[in-house]
Amino acid sequence: MNGVLEIEGGRPLAGEIRVRGAKNFVSKAMVASLLGEGISVLRNVPTIRDVEIVLGLLRAHGVGVEHDPVAGTVTMNPTGAGVAKSADIITHAGASRIPILLCGPLLHRLGEAFIPDLGGCNIGGRPIDFHMEALRRFGAEVSKEPDGLRLVAPKRLQGMQMELEFPSVGATEQLLLTAVLAEGITELRGAAVEPEILDLVAVLQQMGAIITLETDRTYRIEGVDSLHGYHHYSLPDRIEAASWAGAALATGGDITVLGARQLDLTTYLNYFRKVGGRFDVTDDGIRFWHAGGDLSSIAVETAVHPGFMTDWQQPFVVALTQASGISIIHETVYEKRFGFTNALRRMGAHIQLYRECLGGQRLCRFGQRNYEHSAVISGPTPLHAADIEVPDLRGGFSHLIAALAAEGRSSVSGISLIDRGYESFTDKLDALGARYWRH
Ligand code: EPZ
Repeated sequence: MNGVLEIEGGRPLAGEIRVRGAKNFVSKAMVASLLGEGISVLRNVPTIRDVEIVLGLLRAHGVGVEHDPVAGTVTMNPTGAGVAKSADIITHAGASRIPILLCGPLLHRLGEAFIPDLGGCNIGGRPIDFHMEALRRFGAEVSKEPDGLRLVAPKRLQGMQMELEFPSVGATEQLLLTAVLAEGITELRGAAVEPEILDLVAVLQQMGAIITLETDRTYRIEGVDSLHGYHHYSLPDRIEAASWAGAALATGGDITVLGARQLDLTTYLNYFRKVGGRFDVTDDGIRFWHAGGDLSSIAVETAVHPGFMTDWQQPFVVALTQASGISIIHETVYEKRFGFTNALRRMGAHIQLYRECLGGQRLCRFGQRNYEHSAVISGPTPLHAADIEVPDLRGGFSHLIAALAAEGRSSVSGISLIDRGYESFTDKLDALGARYWRH
């Protein structure tokens, strides 16, 4: 269902909500269960659509799966795993990009895998060349089928060496999930080191893998002959936590995010403080609030960890429309991640997009190309209500925030996209005193 939310904005959001496990970790940890010779149990799992997608994909491959949404526990038994029909994989994958990460585990377990044509948020080209090069180097053979790619492993996959041109999160996870059972040593240079990936390394280590991370973004993985199941409690969702922090800033509110962890948010908190936000860290979470007065403008450059995450940028932009002066965001991870600003402009924001790399020194892959990947925001501009359509997950959440900050009644359509990554977000809006109607 598409879903429409009518929002009566202009009121500060205030109250307490909880975030559970990180969307961009739990899906990968669930895939890792396919590598084990026994039962794996993952806890702190949020009830979001991406989790349902992986549950569906695992079931389609014959994995025994139990999900207790209230407890947030998923139990996975891969003992009866088998080859799934391509049509079932396509149905369960929907528009997600998760199937590509099943390749390594399926090649080890079954000797073959199928990747449907991939969906995912429309925020750039999102090629899979690093993934395919890695799988080929491990020894997989790839052939084209009408609806996707078929991979086979004629013999046990072999360890290899590879350097990534860019520290891709997905490609790093692909290599880790494949190298752990490949024969011999794999060395991956130029890799990503996001906290969600390090939590995946922790899961794989529990399963019996041997993975070393060097100081220079190099992983060394010594392949083992077999792995067993794991028991793990997911790290919290730092993107969701920052999204609610952005909502507190943009609406002049005060939101306590239970479950949020400072360690995963240190970079974000620096920027939050510099624009004038206040926060207080407790044993249970982090309280974020707007201290009153004008926010300050700032220059931000998105980057891989430990930089300012690309997924933090959208709610932050909404808050920056309320900052006095000129703010700049230079997006260096995805080439087309400012589509969501069209709606903000219609709501009264002054945001201009540029092809040039503005506001930073970072070497950016998009500098000499035709992508509007820098945004200049001048504020403060009061936002007014509008009818807007959710473009993608994070952009969609920023639209929600904008509608909550804007005077008047907005209509936000396509909000079911937000269910992909934000657990029970309307219940959380209730807890924060938002006025809205869902159709
Ligand atoms: C993950 O996407 C996240 N998704 C994204 O979150 C997140 O924005 C991104 O990492 C960066 O942190 C999941 O974890 C499910 P990448 P991923 O490979 O792994 C280029 C959200 O809203 N690239 O790190 O797909 C790519 O085009 C989502 O939760 C290649 O060129 O991201 C991009 O410019 C959105 N070739 C850059 O690398 C490849 O083979 C980073 O992509 C792979 C990637």
